[in-house]
Amino acid sequence: MEDWEKLIEKRDLIVSVVGIGRIGLPTALMISNEGFKTYGIDTDLSLVEKVNAGGGDPPITYIIDEPELESLLKKVIINRKLKATTNFRNYTSQSNLIILCIPTAITEQKVPDYSVINEVLKEIGQLKEKLAKKIVIFESTVGPNYVEKIAIPLIEKVSELKINKDFWVASCPERANPGNIIKNLNSIPRIVGASNNYARNIVSYFYKTAFKVNIFEVSNPRTANSVKLIENIFRVVNIAFANEISQLMRKFDIDYMEVLKGAATKYNFLTHYPGPGVGGPCLPSNPYYLIDEGYKVSFTPNLLRVATEVNQSQPFHIIELIFEGLNKINKPIANTKIAILGISYKANVKDVQISSVIPILSELQKNNAILGIYDPYYKEEEILGFKIEKNYEFIKRVYSIIIIHTDHNEFKSQNFKDFLRECKDLKVIVDCHNTYEYEEIPNNIYYIGVGRPMKYINRKNN
Ligand SMILES: NC(=O)c1ccc[n+]([C@@H]2O[C@H](COP(=O)([O-])OP(=O)(O)OC[C@H]3O[C@@H](n4cnc5c(N)ncnc54)[C@H](O)[C@@H]3O)[C@@H](O)[C@H]2O)c1
Repeated sequence: MEDWEKLIEKRDLIVSVVGIGRIGLPTALMISNEGFKTYGIDTDLSLVEKVNAGGGDPPITYIIDEPELESLLKKVIINRKLKATTNFRNYTSQSNLIILCIPTAITEQKVPDYSVINEVLKEIGQLKEKLAKKIVIFESTVGPNYVEKIAIPLIEKVSELKINKDFWVASCPERANPGNIIKNLNSIPRIVGASNNYARNIVSYFYKTAFKVNIFEVSNPRTANSVKLIENIFRVVNIAFANEISQLMRKFDIDYMEVLKGAATKYNFLTHYPGPGVGGPCLPSNPYYLIDEGYKVSFTPNLLRVATEVNQSQPFHIIELIFEGLNKINKPIANTKIAILGISYKANVKDVQISSVIPILSELQKNNAILGIYDPYYKEEEILGFKIEKNYEFIKRVYSIIIIHTDHNEFKSQNFKDFLRECKDLKVIVDCHNTYEYEEIPNNIYYIGVGRPMKYINRKNN
């Protein structure tokens, strides 16, 4: 440990971050900014070239929605502390720590897809004796038992080295939130569980030094990976609860947003809001890591299964709300112009992975609606098979119904609210995040929130 401490303190420790995407790039930037020689390793050559150039045109996606990333990238490239590369073998073999930030998705059959990470582990194993005295750190999301039951045996088999004698592993799962990753990396405590106490002490000391955050040490990698999954699945279950109960409240002609405000006055109530469903790389997939491992020990986590199904069905509830609005204004869905605002899976990020807008757009298309789509992060781009509008002015062109799918700041702005008042043909607003208070809605509009009774806004003197 003493040698490692010196390496860390003198900034002589060398780090490889494998996978410099949404999570890996900010991680590599922050480590290099702290003075550590850092290699960002990725199979995507164009990304590697852009990173080494300190940016590029079009910009790296994450730079658009992650404040501070661009200036940090420029700084570490000028200081020559970060080098991006596609050469895995050469640079990992020079490093003390190999941090894995590579994709671990879910297959169509809803089981974890470890194919990419397993291939990377084989490459790590092929370092053979060059792997000696290194620590492999898992930041990628994996099932609780993946590291101990699959990863370690795989590396040992290929390398013919022994865990805790020749090399070590640790889990330090990523807990940052897209849109705020730098801020989160600087503030959210890290969970560290390792193959033994020796590795845990080193990894904890490194993260504490590199990110200046508190460390919460746990007994082993499986506990660390469980922490990561549990905190996201807790949200999945609570959002499912909000989605389901809000639908019921609406049937009773009760405003769920008002109910929530009342419930929040009790000390142990935790508010979660209903919406169009959950999206992104984490929430829709995280329950399946536990469900999959549960099945393997003859345990069915029913609550997780049902919660996930409730969230998956929520976009179809949004479609029902759209039909309600159309019925009110006596319009068929076919050939009616419908404006969709926001396609990202969540506010203020450029990311449509598993976005709830995907099934919504598909249903509307199947029903021959004429779609106009705008998202400030995808202006004039072709995405999901649609050309995105340059701005929201198109709504003035006889769009009688708008769906606010993503609650980007732009749609909460006073400018946008003023603009809606100028849209003389607008008759229905479907607000998937209850972004508006009733008072803010223009006159003569049917306003439909999620979990809120439909309200016809008709103020005198407006
Ligand atoms: N995005 C999030 O919000 C978030 C949050 C917490 C945890 N995670 C987890 O972090 C991990 C990374 O997610 P991400 O969002 O950064 O993914 P991403 O797709 O943005 O980035 C992954 C990067 O890995 C690269 N890559 C793929 N195969 C590779 C290989 N064999 N060798 C080297 N590089 C390779 C890709 O080119 C890409 O640049 C996943 O396990 C994810 O579940 C993501």
